[in-house]
Amino acid sequence: MSIRLHEAWSGRFGAILAVAGSAVGLGNFIRFPAQAAQYGGGGFMIAYFISFLIIGIPLCWSEWTLGRMGSRYGYHSSAGVLHAILRSPWAKYVGALGFIVVTLIYSYYVVIEAWCLGYAVNAIAGTFHTGSFDSEAFFGSFAGLGQNGASVGFGLGDIGLFLILAFALNFFFIYRGVTRGIEWVCRYALPALVILGLIILVRVLTLGTPDPAKPDQNVLNGLGFLWNPGDIGTDLLNPQLWLAAASQVFFSLSIGMGVIITYASYLKPKDDVVLSGLTAAAANEVCEVGIGGLMTVPAAYVFLGAAGVVGSTVGMGFVVLPQVFTFMAGGQLFAILYFGLLFLAAITSSLSMLQPGIALLEEGLGLRRQASVTVLGVLTACGAGFVWYFSQGLTALATIDFWVANVLIFIQATLIVIIFGWVIGVDRGLAEARRGARMQIPAIWGPIIRYVCPLYLGAIFFLFIINKVIGWNFQFGDKLEIERSSYVTNLIGPNANPVAIASVALILALSAATFVIVRISARRWDKHLTATKP
Ligand code: TRP
Repeated sequence: MSIRLHEAWSGRFGAILAVAGSAVGLGNFIRFPAQAAQYGGGGFMIAYFISFLIIGIPLCWSEWTLGRMGSRYGYHSSAGVLHAILRSPWAKYVGALGFIVVTLIYSYYVVIEAWCLGYAVNAIAGTFHTGSFDSEAFFGSFAGLGQNGASVGFGLGDIGLFLILAFALNFFFIYRGVTRGIEWVCRYALPALVILGLIILVRVLTLGTPDPAKPDQNVLNGLGFLWNPGDIGTDLLNPQLWLAAASQVFFSLSIGMGVIITYASYLKPKDDVVLSGLTAAAANEVCEVGIGGLMTVPAAYVFLGAAGVVGSTVGMGFVVLPQVFTFMAGGQLFAILYFGLLFLAAITSSLSMLQPGIALLEEGLGLRRQASVTVLGVLTACGAGFVWYFSQGLTALATIDFWVANVLIFIQATLIVIIFGWVIGVDRGLAEARRGARMQIPAIWGPIIRYVCPLYLGAIFFLFIINKVIGWNFQFGDKLEIERSSYVTNLIGPNANPVAIASVALILALSAATFVIVRISARRWDKHLTATKP
């Protein structure tokens, strides 16, 4: 039985480009600076760097290797890959998470992508530079914060048109396939966004002291605000900071959800995975720390001072910065460049959230390209439509982000390292990784993958549940305070919010449907696997 048409990257470089494109996204330019600023810079960076070494690198190598192993059998979805490699009845359900998580993340990520596109177009139209521009009011009505259904319009100040455009572009490229779609976009978008980033960076670093009356608000202090170590000792005792740093590593590198398993499954059996994985991860860190971390916060600090900088992640990108551009010399041009950069970064990432779904529908249900694109399009249109309509207070977006991009990602990532380090076994896993490798994996990573990474993940997840779900807010050494997290009180009790409940119902419904899909798929795969010996 033929399972599907086989696609492949144009070469090893294509895979690196695509994985880097997936990794470099809104996480680098908005989420990272906002998180680092919120946790006071220095201490956060230490936790972030440790998490990068202990979680980031092991998961990159695990996923790259698992994906390439799967390609030997001709599978590309994490459910198919894990089923083929492990041949145990539960593996496909772990792989199913690889569909559930990214499809749900796409549903709100594409909405934010549409904000970026809409802001870029509004920057061109000069909206931010009209006399009475109020960035908070603009964002509120653009995104429909005040009321559900309030953003369902199609003017320049509404998200509608941009959402449809962003959505359609994603599916256009996905339809074109791995090489002609994803790789093609990344080949142009990645260099373009690095150039845009560097231009903006030069502008920010030469801002000097724009307001002589406020000599403290200068670039050096802006950089210092983010990078000065502060009280590291105390900061590092805050479990929230460790959670935030670890989540940022996951989100930013697109690891722990099987995206890289899918991307690496389009490699050829002898293509290097070790150096490629490291290169893609390093490219992400350069964009994150070296570009995202140097431009956003200092720009905001210089014009608005410390009080203007700390805010929500979303506020940083869509409220603070548009306002900053109104003060900056040449601000209109830089607003266009900045939101253009965000849009390019976002689209290369959102494509990576769709390909795992396409792979599953094609190889699991035997759908052809057109059918799989249609089915995934309908599914994600429901998700994105839900997030678009239920815009009040961004409850739908935040609820899905919390339960999927924080909770489920942790679970899935832990399962992936355990599969690599224990079920396959770290020796066999690393031997597999070494095949065709252009770089040695230092011996220390064996025990890190097997012991340190799962323990670290487990410890952080435990803190996370205590802290964010049960709601014990504490600092080691201080007294305990209990305050139920709003993510829980939104779901049960007197303050339950119907939109939050519906969001969780959506997550559960998609999960149930996916479990059925992989169950059906596995029958097909079993026939194929017994018919063809690898
Ligand atoms: N890494 C991307 C960013 O930094 C986001 C991203 C891409 C992602 N693919 C993903 C997040 C899959 C979760 C799951 O913006």
